[in-house]
Amino acid sequence: MNIRNELTMAEPAFVTAAREHRARALKTVAFGCSSTPRGRQLPAPLVVARAEGAHLWDISGARFIDYALGYGPLILGHSPQGVIGAVKSSLDLGLRTATIHQGEAELGELIAQTLPSAEVSAFASSGSEAIQLALRIARAATGRTRIVKFRGNYHGWFDSIQIAGMPGNDGPDTLGQDPAAAASVTVLDWGDLDQLRAVLDDTFAAVILEPVAINGGCFMPPAGYLEGLRDLTREKGVVLIFDEVISGYRLGTGGAQALVGVTPDLSVIGKAMGAGFPISAVAGSRAAMEPVASGRMLHRGTFNGNPVSVAASVACIRELIAREDEIFPRMEAQGADLESHIRETAREAGLPLSVARTGSALQIFLGIDQVSGLGDLPRIDRAATAAFCGELLLAGVQTIARGLLYLSATHSDEDIALTKAAVTRAIAFASGRSA
Ligand SMILES: Cc1ncc(COP(=O)(O)O)c(C=O)c1O
Repeated sequence: MNIRNELTMAEPAFVTAAREHRARALKTVAFGCSSTPRGRQLPAPLVVARAEGAHLWDISGARFIDYALGYGPLILGHSPQGVIGAVKSSLDLGLRTATIHQGEAELGELIAQTLPSAEVSAFASSGSEAIQLALRIARAATGRTRIVKFRGNYHGWFDSIQIAGMPGNDGPDTLGQDPAAAASVTVLDWGDLDQLRAVLDDTFAAVILEPVAINGGCFMPPAGYLEGLRDLTREKGVVLIFDEVISGYRLGTGGAQALVGVTPDLSVIGKAMGAGFPISAVAGSRAAMEPVASGRMLHRGTFNGNPVSVAASVACIRELIAREDEIFPRMEAQGADLESHIRETAREAGLPLSVARTGSALQIFLGIDQVSGLGDLPRIDRAATAAFCGELLLAGVQTIARGLLYLSATHSDEDIALTKAAVTRAIAFASGRSA
């Protein structure tokens, strides 16, 4: 695999601008940015000046087609007019943070209308926070503490759950975590029902999982897996939590659960529900939500349900409902088109590359020509995947640096055609067929 040497080409202006900004930011901002993965983008972390629809422009004026989409939330693209209008109207009414307002009930009603598991919702600001809330609700409801989580699933960055994220390590994912915080978590393999059956008993409060493993590589669950999980958890009185922080309002207005036809006790949603504004929720039946719905269990947070994010979310979900038959089939068709182009071009070039896709989320891995599940992850060449994403950036296409691409309602057929050309160029380079 070819990996670009800085000396083989003149550095584009956006890379120079990015390096200059990074040198400045590193002096006063930790790792030069606000989240470690953002600082790892190759060939240099892009510095964005403005964005619109499916496009963003960096500080040098270069335009990129964006498939990172704010790490997923921008399902309606950058700056969707309906959402921005709703936010402006909310701001005109004053910053009413930490107040009770009508928008909360409006949003609760929309979630109950769209998400099969939802009757009652509780709001927070980020996916990580809502995951903690869901775990607390499950423990409060059952009076038990033990949790099952699966290798390769990601549920946010808090010590209680950020374990077993990478192959070969069932412990904390990073430095500084308190291993004791996750002592009540049992780690198992996603997709293996027999393993869960052998372990699960009535000492467990919850099983939490990404029903569709988008973080690990965009994998659909094996046939019958979620149905089996549903039966098993019900039998043992264990709360089943679907982490739909990515898949909620991305795989359809009913999330992964509507797609697969399995309804959990609690769902955690975030990202796309806010169209780019910080909001998340735990949603479940009145019975599953009882500890928090009754007020028995404390649910706190200054920014929970803040009117600006709620207004954005209401506008976003309304638009997704109104345009459901147009938006989701188009993203599916565009995703399928990209997927087959990438796979076919890599095959013709003899480049070991695999593609997996769940609707509008598409994962590229280098170093392996076929992936079928999380068990394949140890064989992936992560450095080559990041370098390939760097090649795509040089060709005008921004992805998440670990090879993940999201589509939005605003990607046009022209964007897809330009992206296919960029992919062809990046594959030619990576396979050593061009300089
Ligand atoms: C499945 C899943 N759950 C939870 C989270 C945490 O969400 P946040 O980054 O908003 O805290 C993420 C973030 O990427 C996620 O992908």
